[in-house]
Amino acid sequence: MRSHYCGAVRASDIGNIVTLCGWAHRRRDHGGVIFIDLRDRDGTVQVVIDPDTPESFKIAEDVRSEFVLKVVGKVRARPEGTENANLPTGMVEILTQQLEVLNPSQTPPFQLDDENLSENIRLQYRYLDLRRPAMQANMMLRYRVAKLMRDYLDQQGFIDIETPMLTRSTPEGARDYLVPSRVHDGMFYALPQSPQLFKQLLMVAGYDRYFQIVKCFRDEDLRADRQPEFTQVDLEMSFVEENDVMSLVEGMIRDTFRKAKGIELAEPFPRMPYAEAMARYGSDKPDLRVTLELTEVTDAMKEVAFKVFSGPANDPNGRVAALRVPGGASISRGEIDGYTEFVKIYGAKGLAYIKVNDVSQLNEAGLQSPIVKNLNEAALKAVMERTGAQNGDLIFFGADKAKVVNDAIGALRLKIGHEKGHVDGRAWAPLWVVDFPMFEYNEDEKRWDALHHPFTAPKDGHAEYLASDPGKALSKAYDMVLNGWEVGGGSIRIHREDVQETVFSALNIGEEERRNKFGFLLDALQFGAPPHGGLAFGLDRLVTLMTGAESIRDVIAFPKTQRASCLMTDAPNAVDEKQLRELHIRLRNATPNIA
Ligand code: AMO
Ligand code: AMP
Repeated sequence: MRSHYCGAVRASDIGNIVTLCGWAHRRRDHGGVIFIDLRDRDGTVQVVIDPDTPESFKIAEDVRSEFVLKVVGKVRARPEGTENANLPTGMVEILTQQLEVLNPSQTPPFQLDDENLSENIRLQYRYLDLRRPAMQANMMLRYRVAKLMRDYLDQQGFIDIETPMLTRSTPEGARDYLVPSRVHDGMFYALPQSPQLFKQLLMVAGYDRYFQIVKCFRDEDLRADRQPEFTQVDLEMSFVEENDVMSLVEGMIRDTFRKAKGIELAEPFPRMPYAEAMARYGSDKPDLRVTLELTEVTDAMKEVAFKVFSGPANDPNGRVAALRVPGGASISRGEIDGYTEFVKIYGAKGLAYIKVNDVSQLNEAGLQSPIVKNLNEAALKAVMERTGAQNGDLIFFGADKAKVVNDAIGALRLKIGHEKGHVDGRAWAPLWVVDFPMFEYNEDEKRWDALHHPFTAPKDGHAEYLASDPGKALSKAYDMVLNGWEVGGGSIRIHREDVQETVFSALNIGEEERRNKFGFLLDALQFGAPPHGGLAFGLDRLVTLMTGAESIRDVIAFPKTQRASCLMTDAPNAVDEKQLRELHIRLRNATPNIA
């Protein structure tokens, strides 16, 4: 139907007749001449309709936004002074010979170039939202990134193997999406939270290098960087150690950023043990662009009179940490109150602080703060020395269970860092976080949970702690972090059944549960499983970072809301009685179900 994309017409086409198809982006009447910006996936071009072509002119008078048009016309240079250097087609315009409306359009519910659209309306009319050039650029980038990764992995000898969507529970630890079985009364499939077990079985089966760009499903509380269905670039390799996997995928990420965006990422990515990340940043996915750091003062607070500090300092699970803000003495009382409210979101009970007026006087004369009188000189000295405090600084404190302090002061570090400009100016800060603990103590359930998943191998020499001192065992797990986002995670797996059994014991997973949930994997480990390991990237998160979007919803064609619904299709929805009966389901709070 057409000879060119709208966005592809150039000065070199001047004098030629072209046929274009697209949408009327904007129509302007200019005293006898009508201008239409015609838009397609490639861009927009200016179309001119002159009264000299009365038939076309009459049609053009009725054209409205989003009408679908076909234009035959001659490319000509724009009159001098009307060129638009910001537009690839800005030197030319199309003088219409023939205009045809292929399809009119209702008035759209929003202007496509409105910058302040509510997300709900965008999601409801997603097909219009996706017409917007910014969204089309996101989708194309997403395609390009996936293609680059696919090509890279193909070159490295990986093969794409599909794994089932209807399967049984996988071990990532989120809630499952269940699918009832019609054939088996009372039985359910689970949608995979990842292909984890299948990719390990493919290694047992000798495929050596597997990858898949694959949907994963997790029923968890949604945030800006989480969707109930999301896409992983998932891979697994045989006969490898941590470094083999890490350097291969680091190469893939570097290659992808270079080819998709022209971005050169630092080489090699720095590596930081988990313990160091928690100590210095209160987070296992630190944004290294923020220069503020937490300082450990737990040991210095054991004897102080201030109970808020001495309590956690003497609790084995407690922590007292300081956050020095250079030049922060100018932060107002009102702002401090705001920060105090902010840390409460993370469970903190308060936010003590000291304004450093004169660091040489370790008392109320030099240090302005309601808590100074309750801290002894040794404690104050430790704080000032370890934080490197200077006159004019502000020091915040968190004191609580370590988890609360890390969450609260870690988040405050990011907030103040960005608000007050304590950033190093880098656009990209990649990082590997390594040496994760095998387990994390679950206070509520009074048991150990796997920090990664229960198939992660212990570090060499750490298998002996699995039974004796589970908290001490480190694992061969690694996460890739970019600008404070966890973009990928993986590990070397356990390939021997005896080690796997020890880990299950440490996790208090009984014989019956082991057989029931993972019997097939335990069996497979007995039939010559090779050493193996891998990793999965969150494709949505990577592309979001590349676009600078706020939320991963902006790089997913048809995402769900924070309440896990699709505003366009209205999923999830009620279904009719007959379908439920076939699936052997009766609703507890039966409401009439009319689909
Ligand atoms: P993990 O659970 O760390 O590992 O997931 C891998 C990566 O997937 C992304 N991700 C998400 N993205 C969007 N929405 C979500 N709800 C969501 N959850 C996770 C993150 C994360 O780094 N099987 C293991 C991988 C392995 O060990 O090889 C796994 O799934 O970017
Ligand atoms: P209070 O003695 O409770 O009035 O608290 C004195 C100061 O300590 C106030 O600035 C509180 O915000 C702060 N504070 C209270 N609890 C904590 C805590 N758990 N961690 C850090 N600071 C706290």
